[in-house]
Amino acid sequence: MLIKKPNKIRSYEITSERNYLNRRSFIQSGCLIAGGILSQGIHSANLPDQPFDKLENINKSDYSTDEQINNIIDVTSYNNYYEFGMGKADPNRNSREFQSRPWEIEVSGEAEITGNFDIEDFIKPYQLEERIYRMRCVEAWSMVIPWVGVPLVDVIKKFKPLSSAKFVKFETLYDKKRMPGQKSRVLRWPYREGLTIAEATNPLPILAVGIYGRALPNQNGAPIRLVVPWKYGFKGIKGIVKISFEKSQPKTSWQMAAPNEYGFYANVNPKVSHPRWSQARERRIGSGVFASKQPTLLFNGYEEHVAHLYDGLNLRRHF
Ligand code: MTE
Repeated sequence: MLIKKPNKIRSYEITSERNYLNRRSFIQSGCLIAGGILSQGIHSANLPDQPFDKLENINKSDYSTDEQINNIIDVTSYNNYYEFGMGKADPNRNSREFQSRPWEIEVSGEAEITGNFDIEDFIKPYQLEERIYRMRCVEAWSMVIPWVGVPLVDVIKKFKPLSSAKFVKFETLYDKKRMPGQKSRVLRWPYREGLTIAEATNPLPILAVGIYGRALPNQNGAPIRLVVPWKYGFKGIKGIVKISFEKSQPKTSWQMAAPNEYGFYANVNPKVSHPRWSQARERRIGSGVFASKQPTLLFNGYEEHVAHLYDGLNLRRHF
């Protein structure tokens, strides 16, 4: 990216009760979030115009980590979403008017089934799961986030990709009025991301529609975003409107912006430095200003699930 100027909690119920619904403790904590949202209280701070409905019928997952979950305040007020500004507090502040309904997703390319789908119909066939994943940003910070979503592999299979489909490409909504950050030329819009078909059909990636058991807030990518826990956070494209099955490797937004800094694979790797900083350690958001950085793990700690995808691949060259 551009460098610019408690307790162990396992379930989203406990988290939402303790960290989300307990507005008083939030206010008492004296935690100052940029943008003056404190005075508005937690609900209006994070969920201004979002229905933020409670999601029902969510299965637990063995893929979840039991590491301490980040506070919802961290997760919803320290964001990267350049469509709403480049500062960490901008997405929370600037996405409040954003309407994530109605929402259509276009599926195209090398697959038997293609077409345009309303978000509700798109998600309905699949079982919602909570996946508590570590997220490691390429900027060397990390969080633990309780996502709610559907396994990407289930969605991919439903569209019956042809054998010619070697990659899956994703695109964010392109609408300068609704996403004013797209007026800036910091990236070539729309935001684009991609995975190999083998990565996309690994059990770990999800299309997330929620956090903490509730619908995704705008700043986190409402109504639907990708989460790929062994890759740097920028692969987790938000506000997805297009998914296409491709014969060849698609160009991603960050790759187009700075090809020597952000590769297509973007696997978390402590041994491969960013040209401008080391990736050996990371700062866990919420651990306090005096906490020392913790070591970054290969594939963000998901090695046993994904290392086989890269057998024979030079991870330094294919970064
Ligand atoms: N998706 C879009 N469309 N635009 C963005 O700027 N930023 C990425 C990713 N997805 C981004 C995006 C980056 S750099 C990160 S680290 C994660 O979103 C941050 O997700 P979070 O704000 O929900 O923690």
